[in-house]
Amino acid sequence: MKISNKLIELLDLDCRIAILTGTGVSAESGVSTFRDPDGLWSRFNPAELASMNGFMSNPELVWSWYNYRREIINSVKPNPGHYALAEMQKLFPYYTLITQNVDRLHQSAGSSNVIELHGNIIDNHCVRCEEPFSNEFDLRSKVVPHCKCGGMIRPSVVWFGEMLPDAAIADAYYAAENCDVFFSIGTSAEVFPAANLPHIARSKGAYVVEINPNQTSLSNYADECLRQPSGIAMPELILQLKVKKI
Ligand code: OAD
Ligand code: ZN
Repeated sequence: MKISNKLIELLDLDCRIAILTGTGVSAESGVSTFRDPDGLWSRFNPAELASMNGFMSNPELVWSWYNYRREIINSVKPNPGHYALAEMQKLFPYYTLITQNVDRLHQSAGSSNVIELHGNIIDNHCVRCEEPFSNEFDLRSKVVPHCKCGGMIRPSVVWFGEMLPDAAIADAYYAAENCDVFFSIGTSAEVFPAANLPHIARSKGAYVVEINPNQTSLSNYADECLRQPSGIAMPELILQLKVKKI
């Protein structure tokens, strides 16, 4: 689908840009999304694997599942969509990248100051004293490591029922409230509060663009929908911005 002239015109040097990404951005790298027909939540139960109750009832299962996902994430690389977003950051002085992804592929592609709304899958911390631990554990082991305080060590992702990190959500709301163009890329826009962000941006007058091969609950509210994979649409957008000589 063609990128509109209006969008290319809006994207000037003084344009304030906020971008929300979801697992769709990592799909072309080989990371499973959650809600697509073959997504993680069609094969696994989020209540068992992504909640404190689930962890407390079966810590070995949850720890092994995150290790399985870590092995996949360790073996994949950023795709052209991630690289285009990193390039975009260099072009625009007012630019905020907010992600729901825990895979750190944006950072591997060169993006900096990424707001991680749902934490990340690389780091860990103690459930009891919150002492941080890096990913220093054997990914093949099912044994849940323990902190010296006796608490179990868990992945530093945000689970269902948990609050998002205060600073991350505050920065994300600020960016949404104060942008001229908001991009929602590779997310089903189903999980709150992240899914509020494009609506906040829109209520403040921003132009909202969705990049997603499929319709989502945001589509009817977006000013423009690019029905393409992000690995195609984002490099094309950068190309057009370069032609415009931004
Ligand atoms: P979803 O699986 O809900 O949505 C992924 C979206 O990506 C879908 O709308 C797909 O159509 C789209 N998609 C697939 N391939 C794409 C591609 N190549 N380019 C662009 N879009 C593509 O994943 P999220 O929206 O990320 O939360 O899910 C949000 C949250 O729900 C996750 O952060 C996770 C999950 O439960 C927690 O774990 C707290
Ligand atoms: Zn501890």
